[in-house]
Amino acid sequence: MAEKVTVHGPVRLGRRGVIVHGGAGGWRGSREDEVASAVLAGARAAVEAGLAPGSVVDAIAALEDSGVLNAGLGSVLTIDGRVEMDAGVMYGDGVAGGVAAVTYPRNPIRLADWVARNLFHVLIAGEAADRLAQRLGLPRHPGPSQRSLERWRRLRELLGKGQGPPWALSAARALGLLGGDTVGAALVYEGSTAAGASTGGIALKHPGRVGDSPIPGAGFYAEDGVGACSATGVGETIILGRPCLYALSLLRDGAGVGAAARAAVERHTRLYGADTLGIILVDSRGWAAAAMNTEAMPVAYAGERVEPTALILKRSTESRGKQ
Ligand code: GLY
Repeated sequence: MAEKVTVHGPVRLGRRGVIVHGGAGGWRGSREDEVASAVLAGARAAVEAGLAPGSVVDAIAALEDSGVLNAGLGSVLTIDGRVEMDAGVMYGDGVAGGVAAVTYPRNPIRLADWVARNLFHVLIAGEAADRLAQRLGLPRHPGPSQRSLERWRRLRELLGKGQGPPWALSAARALGLLGGDTVGAALVYEGSTAAGASTGGIALKHPGRVGDSPIPGAGFYAEDGVGACSATGVGETIILGRPCLYALSLLRDGAGVGAAARAAVERHTRLYGADTLGIILVDSRGWAAAAMNTEAMPVAYAGERVEPTALILKRSTESRGKQ
């Protein structure tokens, strides 16, 4: 399976830097310029916020606001046509927070960050999380976008044409049909680290289904002095495989970011097959890499030593840097 893993990097960001992604998946028929601009806006938002650890939340909020990525305004829909989102964030000093199956906040990552900074709990779900967002006065999500509704109708039509019940549409196939999955960011600031993820989940998911994006170790992980990671792909496999925790264990053992990102995706591919995972990874020295076993993944990065740069990583275009 190793030949199906595509790696970008390592790239030297410098002592302060950020890498973001717009979701691993098929991205067939998508406008590449639109998607590249969306991820670039995420990297720029972190730079504008000063690249301190909390800037990871500003990066992810910008990705949620793009409307073209599967998170926040662009979230895909449940089987009954509703937006239900998950998000989580972790700081390298061990503080983490997540929200699951929320419908109220326009930016679930900001609610997750509030949980991280203010509650002893790590994960708040459903109606209680929505009530909390409302009580905090966070901006309200406007509901399904036109684009998401059109895609939902198209998928429902496919199901109606004898493709079987929704559960017969494998999650990986849905990723190919629908573009990408999830947004995320990983950041380094003079040895401190932070990472997070946000998503509308898997298209046509069962109401109440929760994926990997609010779960530390699975959808994201950060440890000061080691690195930070954010994952995207089929949440059920990511919860079980915990690729971010695994990638950081490799960094702790001395691997470079490129080798660690590749090894984490290779292991995941062996366990769960192709079209299941993409990750972005930074180490505490300021090197970054991205790896995936899907057709494509939009990525952007910026830092002390590199201007904001966006690219669509594709299965056929492996590129290596020096570390
Ligand atoms: N990776 C996002 C999800 O499966 O929910």
